[in-house]
Amino acid sequence: MIPKTHRNRAAEMRNIPTRWSAACLALTLIASLALAARKPRKDDGPAAQLSKAPARARSLQNPFTGQSEAAAAGRKIYQQHCAECHGSDGRGLDYAADLHSPAIQDAPPGALFWALRNGRIRKGMPSWSRLPDQQLWQLVTYLKTLH
Ligand code: HEC
Repeated sequence: MIPKTHRNRAAEMRNIPTRWSAACLALTLIASLALAARKPRKDDGPAAQLSKAPARARSLQNPFTGQSEAAAAGRKIYQQHCAECHGSDGRGLDYAADLHSPAIQDAPPGALFWALRNGRIRKGMPSWSRLPDQQLWQLVTYLKTLH
């Protein structure tokens, strides 16, 4: 027969994994609560995506810069695809970005093109990669007329 103290030791050893996983679970819970409570960072706003555009995308030139015909075409595409979330005047509905905001107006056209192509799906902005490049640039041209 095993002496009592040894039995207790053995029982304790068996408990160690359970205690560890309980501790890990508690830590995970605390960490996720802390993350959830974290205030949204300044650079996490509706246009934060634009500052993340890779240099190669930022440097792309809009072939239609300042061309009013392209802007008019972009306006039509905008009313068709974008107005439902951003409003027909681009001021943004609910949580969709206000397209008149400086963050968007000051962004390089290439960054806007990139943002339209990629979207920010997690935040509710769809990807527009199914639109041909020409239409994306027309949209960018239109967006730049909103001040
Ligand atoms: C289903 C709703 C929805 C539609 C449709 C939509 N957007 Fe958005 N858009 C959003 C939301 C939400 C954001 C804010 C995303 C965020 O928090 O980063 C956003 C952000 C943006 C931004 C800022 C950059 C970015 O990616 O965050 C631009 C520019 C933009 N939209 C342009 C457009 C254009 C142009 C169209 C039409 C081709 C369009 N959006 C269609 C919801 C939409």
